[in-house]
Amino acid sequence: MAAAKEQWGSRIGLILAMAGNAVGLGNFLRFPVQAVQNGGGAFMIPYLVSFLLMGIPLLWVEWAMGRYGGKFGDHSTPFILDNMTHQRFWKYFGVFGIFTNIGVMAYYTYIESWTLTYAIKSIKGDFLGMPLNEVGATFDRYVDLGSSINLPIWAIVAYLITLIINIYILSRGLSGGVEKVAKFGMPLLLIFGFFLAIRGITLGSTGRCPDCNSHLGLDFLWRPEFSSLADPKVWLAAAGQIFFTLSVGMGTIQCYASYVRQKDDIALNAMSAGWMNSFVEVVLGASVVIPIAVGYFGLDWVKENAGFMMAFKSMPFLFDQFGPVLAVLSGLAWFGLLFFAGITSSLAMGTPWMGFMEDEFKWSRNKAALSLGVVILVLSLPTILFFGKGVFDEYDYWTGTVALVLFALAEVVLFGWVFGMDKGWAEITSGADMKVPRLYRPIIKYVTPLFILVIFLTSVFKPLNGGLDDWGKGFAQLGAGQGWPWAKDSIVNQLFHLDTGIVWFEQGIPTNMFYIDMSRFLLVFTFIGLGALVAIASRKRRQNA
Ligand code: PHE
Repeated sequence: MAAAKEQWGSRIGLILAMAGNAVGLGNFLRFPVQAVQNGGGAFMIPYLVSFLLMGIPLLWVEWAMGRYGGKFGDHSTPFILDNMTHQRFWKYFGVFGIFTNIGVMAYYTYIESWTLTYAIKSIKGDFLGMPLNEVGATFDRYVDLGSSINLPIWAIVAYLITLIINIYILSRGLSGGVEKVAKFGMPLLLIFGFFLAIRGITLGSTGRCPDCNSHLGLDFLWRPEFSSLADPKVWLAAAGQIFFTLSVGMGTIQCYASYVRQKDDIALNAMSAGWMNSFVEVVLGASVVIPIAVGYFGLDWVKENAGFMMAFKSMPFLFDQFGPVLAVLSGLAWFGLLFFAGITSSLAMGTPWMGFMEDEFKWSRNKAALSLGVVILVLSLPTILFFGKGVFDEYDYWTGTVALVLFALAEVVLFGWVFGMDKGWAEITSGADMKVPRLYRPIIKYVTPLFILVIFLTSVFKPLNGGLDDWGKGFAQLGAGQGWPWAKDSIVNQLFHLDTGIVWFEQGIPTNMFYIDMSRFLLVFTFIGLGALVAIASRKRRQNA
């Protein structure tokens, strides 16, 4: 049992906190880029199908697991899983539900701190009249890109402030901290989002170039394209986005839901938060960066250059084209929106660690929050100091892309097959304020695990370029005894660096790969450390039993 009994204060607070958990930088930075890179409207159908067959079932499963765990006083996935089965090894899968969160939090809070700085810069009018390349250079200087080791003093100061804000709020607890921020931040985020979306939608043609028209951007994103349905690459990207944006497969939802009262609804709550996230993503997320950028740079430029840095390197320049007053307002709205989207998510990432330390080691909330701050600081330093070496992307790859798929697969198998669908369905529907479609029973048991398994295997073995015919070519090449053409971002290639070989030093100087691999070891040690904590906690439990 947790030392101080935590609970959500109100239903609306819970829904906003859960929506805040889901609505994050992923909705505004990751989604538009993924959509553009995967053919715009071509991305939408795989995205929607992934939402219906994987996202929604996982939401219900995770909320149900969480509330069920709360019944036994468990608030983090190792022992939530443990309670659902008699087999002892499952709790070690649960380590993912803490690990993924702190791994993502380490680099996520760094981006969050940029948004804070950029909101202030915008209010100060720093970007007024600044040419595009100078806006880009400002960012590079800010993170101290180009130095052999990045020592960005101001970025570090802003980072520490951001981390302290997070830790402080977490130390105030769920109803006293997280819920208050969500109740204030989510409506504000929506206001900012609508303001910018209206700008993106009404901008239309700017006359800067023949296809400089924000409507072309919207059209590109929203006109459904069926051709992509046979493209595994697009499916992979769409499924990955669904995972990240809904925060499923992370352990965060289980943790938040474990503080729900036993008789309370979860089915409708899960849908409210989930659909709110999709609305913010597909409607607001798609109406800002891309259309505005297309309005001034044209569609071709955007297709070529879409990347998540656009938010910092192009947006301030684009806002400046609106005239000084609107530029300052838009800058504040954009970076303010990102900050609130970010913080309501990073707070969620912090709770599983805290729940675990409070439950198992009887730590006070303050102590748990403080220890979280130390862990996150240690893990985030490499992403700050070696930002230019790709450490940031390495974290994102393993924790924000791979780990969640693995964990989701494990938990949905546990739920549907070990815990069993009879008990599972009863958990989902108990206290439900909506009728959960019965169709979702077989979906959870068969379709979702199969879907995730296929996604996982596809990313393990992804061939070069990843398209359907690339798979064909791959098998032909394999048959001819020439080996498999691993894609750079296939899990196997990422693990073993098959394409380049392992090169840690060149002329005595550490390569980027060296930094990347060292950070990978750090992540592995973190995982093992958490596993050890779970083992210790589990021994303590047996002694006390
Ligand atoms: N869903 C959040 C986003 O879209 C990210 C997140 C990841 C939140 C992990 C909680 C846990 O940005």
